[in-house]
Amino acid sequence: MKVTVIGAGYVGLTTALALAYIGHDVAVVEKDREKLEILREGRSPLYEKGLDELLKIVREDVFFTENLDDCVPSADIVMIAVGTPAKKNGEADLSYVEQAVKGIAESLRPGGSYTIVIKSTVPVGTNEMVSQKLSQLLNQRNVSCDVHIVSNPEFLREGMALQDTFYPERIVVGTRSRKAISDLQQLYQPITQQTFTPPEFLPRPNGLQLPHFIIVEPASAEMIKYAANAFLALKISFINEIAGLCEKVGADITDVAKGIGTDKRIGNSFLNAGIGWGGSCFPKDTLALLELARQKGYAMPIVAAAREVNYRMRKEAVAKLRKHLGDFKGKKVAVLGLAFKPGTDDLRDAPALDIIRELLAEGAEVSACDPVALRNARKAFEGVANISFFEDPYEAALGADAVVLATEWPQWANIDFGRLRQQVRNPLFFDGRNFFNPDEVFKSGFQYLGVGR
Ligand code: UDX
Repeated sequence: MKVTVIGAGYVGLTTALALAYIGHDVAVVEKDREKLEILREGRSPLYEKGLDELLKIVREDVFFTENLDDCVPSADIVMIAVGTPAKKNGEADLSYVEQAVKGIAESLRPGGSYTIVIKSTVPVGTNEMVSQKLSQLLNQRNVSCDVHIVSNPEFLREGMALQDTFYPERIVVGTRSRKAISDLQQLYQPITQQTFTPPEFLPRPNGLQLPHFIIVEPASAEMIKYAANAFLALKISFINEIAGLCEKVGADITDVAKGIGTDKRIGNSFLNAGIGWGGSCFPKDTLALLELARQKGYAMPIVAAAREVNYRMRKEAVAKLRKHLGDFKGKKVAVLGLAFKPGTDDLRDAPALDIIRELLAEGAEVSACDPVALRNARKAFEGVANISFFEDPYEAALGADAVVLATEWPQWANIDFGRLRQQVRNPLFFDGRNFFNPDEVFKSGFQYLGVGR
């Protein structure tokens, strides 16, 4: 099928390249010239596992452009995958979606038949709004064509975006149009039936189950996305809340999580206690959900509490260090891991950033360390004093009064605590992700602090 994807961000680019790989004729529209140039050179403008490799394979088959007019008129499917950042009040900012809709309306060919897919995470009701706006704009142009609109939210984890695109658990399709349903069935058929030959670098997982193809009303599809993210966020906040109580009563949260996670109704994933969630989705989507509820005059105390607990974790991390160091004046803290989770260079609402800001505000000197996020980190702290950046954890730890693990990068799993001990001034280790075996850390002469253990 001929597919146009608007927006070459994490979601758009991943989806576009995967669709090209499974045999579709794909065009990507990106307004950012710098990004476009990088893509045309065959490189990925963002850090996402496997994207460079996939780009090498499909490069010749994907058309990169900044003009909707170059590809929308002849497309069967036009996918909107632009950003929907949070506005100050938490509401999702739909201006990029609106721009895309306007551009699409100007490019559709009279008499053509199109399925417009909304992939961006958008508030409930956006499908309806897009539908009205499009017909209004087409009327103004005096153009009539056959347009079908479908909400098709993504469930991609950063760092695992290709894995989640090729081997999803479900594909959610929200529409009232039979044509749109059949188009999306055709579009995703190689994925729903797993008939494609996997790329060498991304083999099909053993025992993979075929994804569910869930057809629902547009508003339900939009709600599924928010509800999924809110539920995952509150699952983590729940375990973090229990972790706090574990510390008070001498229980170990990792054992508690194991103990409750084996109950299938609870499940053991997303029960890792730590300094909490960040990223581009959980913070923004929980906030958008609360704002939507507020507009509708509806209270959502559970979602609100999930956020409250989450941001409390960051404060408590600093409080724990304060308790052990006295105060931070003249103290040096090494923060290992800046990205909001491993496998990405994304710093959006990363717990490490808030922790570092607080440490700096209280007079600490910070050495910040991350294997891939330093470029973004330098930008985030531009002009800020008393912070230095390292790729190597041992260098970052030199002369430190405390070492904090904020992101559990797998390459640090075998960190040599003996060597780390030689580097620091004061042997205090705060494992903000409960990543290490406390005994191992302790054996090397460190005092070990975890979250809920
Ligand atoms: C999430 C959803 O998983 C994905 O389905 C959705 O489409 C986008 O949002 P992502 O933001 O990439 O994906 O990250 P995810 O792996 O879900 O982790 C989110 C945050 O939760 C990270 O900060 C991570 O460190 C934290 N986390 C995760 C925990 O603190 N404990 C856990 O057990 C799991």
